[in-house]
Order: sequence, then C-alpha cells, then structure tokens
Amino acid sequence: MNNILLERALEVLGNAYAPYSRFQVAAALLCADGSIFTGVNAENAAYGSTLCAERSAFMSAITAGKRDFVKILIIGGENGNITSFCPPCGSCRQVMCEFCEENFEIVLYDGARFESAALPQFMPRSFSL
Ligand code: THU
Repeated sequence: MNNILLERALEVLGNAYAPYSRFQVAAALLCADGSIFTGVNAENAAYGSTLCAERSAFMSAITAGKRDFVKILIIGGENGNITSFCPPCGSCRQVMCEFCEENFEIVLYDGARFESAALPQFMPRSFSL
C-alpha cells in the first residue's frame, strides 16, 4: 500500500505551487473505504496564506464526505527532489489530531526507504476540546 500511495503522491508532486520556497510537497491520504486523496502545497505572496500538502489532502477528503482515515504518505523536497524525509508541520499534525484516531499512521519517504509511526508519536499530548 505504501508503494501505491507513493505513486499517487509522485503523480501530483509537480503540481505543487511553491514559487517562494521552491520546496514542493505532496501527500496521499488513504481512507478506510480504500479511496485515496492527494494534496500539494500552494503558497501565497502573503506567506501565511500558504496551504500545506497534508491539509490540502485532508480538506479534499472531507469535502468528499470522508471521515475515516488510515494513513497518510508525505514526500517533499527542494524543486521536487526527494532527498530526505519531510515530516508534517505542527499545524498539519493538529489537523490530523482533529480527524484521526490514535492508530492513524504517518508514512515518510526519503527517496530510498519508508519510515512510519502512529500519530501520537508525532503529536504527543495534543490539544483537543
Ligand atoms: N509544507 C507542507 O506542504 N507541508 C508541511 O508539513 C511542511 C511545509 C510546505 C509549506 C511551504 O509551501 C513549503 O513547504 C516550505 O515551508
């Protein structure tokens, strides 16, 4: 399954809009029903309006009515070259905590191998209401 998610993320990585940082990111989110939603980062001249790839994938899935998520694969690198792991930023981790259970898996890929861990390892003692 990681290879399928990687394939899907690679398909869209070049669509990432990153004229300011040149750092392109793509994410592929697997839902419990087997469907996969992808996302890329989209930057903005007002930097704070940038949307990360992971949240983009989540919002597409939410828009399609999905609520049960299994795992997300994330890739990224300067000009789309994947040379190291691209762990999710704090805001994306917080959004994952909103929609995912503790067994939700985050999969990273550095161009050669996968590394994965469950959400609580990335986001211990997370805030919730
Ligand atoms: N970025 C993501 O898309 N996801 C992350 O989790 C980390 C950062 C993007 C935002 C920005 O366009 C670029 O990477 C550099 O920060």
